[in-house]
Amino acid sequence: MTSKVFGLIAEEAHRQKYGLEMIPSENYASEDVLKAMGSILTNKYSEGFPGARYYGGNEIIDKIERYACELANKLFGTVHAIVQPHSGSPANLAVALELAGPGGTTLGQSLTAGGHLTFGAQASWTGRLFNAIQYGVDPKTWQIDLDEVKALAKKHKPKFIWVGTTAYPFQIDYKGFAQIADEVGCFLVADTSHISGLVVTGYHPTPVPYVHVMTTTTHKTLRGPRGAMILITKKGLDKDPELAKRLEKSVMPGLQGGPHDHQTAAIAVALEEALKPSFKNYIGQVVKNAKVLADQLGTVSQVHLVLKSLTDLGYGLGYQAQYALEEAGITVNKNTIPGEPASPFYPSGIRLGSPALTTRGMKEKDMIKIATWIKRVLEEVRGHDLPKEQDKRKDFLKEVKKILKTNKNLRQIRKEVEEFAGKFPVPGIQ
Ligand SMILES: Cc1ncc(COP(=O)(O)O)c(C=O)c1O
Repeated sequence: MTSKVFGLIAEEAHRQKYGLEMIPSENYASEDVLKAMGSILTNKYSEGFPGARYYGGNEIIDKIERYACELANKLFGTVHAIVQPHSGSPANLAVALELAGPGGTTLGQSLTAGGHLTFGAQASWTGRLFNAIQYGVDPKTWQIDLDEVKALAKKHKPKFIWVGTTAYPFQIDYKGFAQIADEVGCFLVADTSHISGLVVTGYHPTPVPYVHVMTTTTHKTLRGPRGAMILITKKGLDKDPELAKRLEKSVMPGLQGGPHDHQTAAIAVALEEALKPSFKNYIGQVVKNAKVLADQLGTVSQVHLVLKSLTDLGYGLGYQAQYALEEAGITVNKNTIPGEPASPFYPSGIRLGSPALTTRGMKEKDMIKIATWIKRVLEEVRGHDLPKEQDKRKDFLKEVKKILKTNKNLRQIRKEVEEFAGKFPVPGIQ
């Protein structure tokens, strides 16, 4: 091992083992998934789809890709699977470009209300290539207001509606969305990236009977390698028998060249694992753990993640809290809260979740312990309110970071966290 990179990977392995990984979109893939991901399959070019490739030598690759598609359809109950998108964002772009066309109207949940960038946020090309209309959530309940979705759909007549979230602690009413999409006559696309693990194990209602298309990343609660899939339902093919072909073409040659065959193989391994009864037990524990975390932090969760408002501690504290928690060995991300009072860059909340910790074998009693550390850390950011004047923020945050870096209480918590976390195994790390 001569490359400098292996030293850096060893450092990252240490961070992953001795810290508490609480970003809800992260997880630890199994050793078998890692093995397939790091395999010689990365050497192959296989543009096209099984049985119709632009290159020779794809007999085995065809078997692997067909197997991955078969497992995806079995797991989700869909009728056609595309496993080639390199990740979630390009999968969503492939769907949006095909169903709406450049300049077409789309309707999706806004970023600040818990939706994903690719649902039409201005910072994403999906907010510029399309006439992207956005729905929010009720600022009091933090929940999707189907009356708002319906009114926007009727007014703007989108080509399709996105139903999916990235920072939403509640279950989603797919049936309610389907009634709206069917009334307007548009496609309905579910992005279940965050909750796919819950959907396939019955811990979240499935969108399959209600939507035409699903997209999902494979690396979140599904616990696979980084990657994504586009799944077509029976309802989708009934609406447009050409839908599967259209979406395949949109992925390749529309947006991508060769698929990542090592990734496809690793997805197949993860799907095999997700079909096992032990995966259902795992997700059951993920949901229980998230609920305990939410209870302890004074909020609610019906899924795998917790969205915690910090407004009772001060103004615009998300960034400071993320930094302080990281100093204490706990990784979360700053997040806007519905009706964000501060700023999208320096928001008022944090987003955290249980999938990765649960993979390490942690249970409810461990969540109580972790929530206690989190509460202790949050006390250390009290008083470090974001300045209201934008031009003062950069210097202010630099100063706060300096103060937090030498904070004795945070150092003490870090010691406790390292001692605790180090006792739990991480797949692929000795
Ligand atoms: C709902 C949702 N869709 C799509 C994506 C994009 O996935 P990727 O980061 O693989 O592009 C994410 C990532 O966070 C997500 O949460």
